[in-house]
Amino acid sequence: MTSYSEKATSTMFKAIVVEKDESGYRAGLKEVDESALPAGDVTVRVAYSTINYKDGLAITGKGPVVRKFPLHAGIDFAGTVEASDDARFKPGDKVVLNGWGVGESHSGGLAQKARVKADWLMPLPAGLTERQAMAIGTAGYTAMLCVLALQRHGLTPASGDILVTGANGGVGSVAITLLAQLGFRVAASTGRLQEADYLKSLGAADIIARDELSGPGKPLGKERWAGVVDSVGSHTLVNACAGTRYGGAVAACGLAQGMDFPATVAPFILRGITLYGVDSVVAPQAVRRAAWDRLAIDLDLDRLEAITHEIGLGEALQAGADILAGRIRGRVVVNVNR
Ligand SMILES: NC(=O)c1ccc[n+]([C@@H]2O[C@H](COP(=O)([O-])OP(=O)(O)OC[C@H]3O[C@@H](n4cnc5c(N)ncnc54)[C@H](OP(=O)(O)O)[C@@H]3O)[C@@H](O)[C@H]2O)c1
Repeated sequence: MTSYSEKATSTMFKAIVVEKDESGYRAGLKEVDESALPAGDVTVRVAYSTINYKDGLAITGKGPVVRKFPLHAGIDFAGTVEASDDARFKPGDKVVLNGWGVGESHSGGLAQKARVKADWLMPLPAGLTERQAMAIGTAGYTAMLCVLALQRHGLTPASGDILVTGANGGVGSVAITLLAQLGFRVAASTGRLQEADYLKSLGAADIIARDELSGPGKPLGKERWAGVVDSVGSHTLVNACAGTRYGGAVAACGLAQGMDFPATVAPFILRGITLYGVDSVVAPQAVRRAAWDRLAIDLDLDRLEAITHEIGLGEALQAGADILAGRIRGRVVVNVNR
């Protein structure tokens, strides 16, 4: 039988808590009580979370991502259902969550426990462990959404090269890995040329220096790529569009360089290119399940492990600052119980 004192301590757990008050904005590793969890139908014992770009913004306060205080950071997690008021989930089920405002307006996965709406949860895809699911994380799932957009457009390896920007980042690393495995020839654009061997080991054929694309360019450039996966935005996205072949497609999902899009309509009206916007946060369940199913099948798990670095919950604070400073390569998985 559980003693009172054991019961009392078992309701406490660790979380990265983001707070904002008169003394300012801060994030810290804290011991919190289960009563701090928000309302929701399902309580999950979190095993792993990750550090995505948005988690970096939430932890450092460098972007207005967190909209409710105090809040547990972490836009995604994988874990085991502990309690459920929803017939779709029962204790012991393995689940994954990405987005839905978790880690922004609802306490998230950089914590040993989370309580969320059942509608936001997905069963852990068959063939993936909780750690692998979070090594993929929101960044990898978004990379898959971008690849699916290019494939739906009709692009095949015979169409021509695919440009991946922000190549060393989470979205970029997984996109290169997926595209290369699907037989595409990939050009990787990076500000870290010293990581060229790493990018080639993922399957990149060409390495392009970031500054070739990151400054103001011409409305139309040489037709270099059949498709693009862009996680950078701003002039890079504009130049990526200007260098896309007639009838090609660009999947835009990020803003690591900037939110602006100082473009002309030339690539759209003279080359008929298509710009697909990719959102992972409120993507319908059918869309996300299709992406996760493809990840479970297509992604080489040995390559995933090679781009993954594991840290403990307390190290998430430093990793949040590091991802914004461009010091993280590939994916960081957070073992919240370490
Ligand atoms: N739409 C969605 O639902 C969704 C989902 C996930 C992520 N995102 C967005 O996608 C972006 C990437 O996310 P992530 O988790 O992959 O982040 P990340 O790991 O930090 O990757 C971003 C990469 O962009 C490059 N970069 C950084 N600063 C840059 C700058 N000033 N100019 C040009 N390139 C720069 C760096 O790659 P190199 O060092 O190789 O140049 C960096 O590694 C973020 O903006 C994130 O918010 C959106």
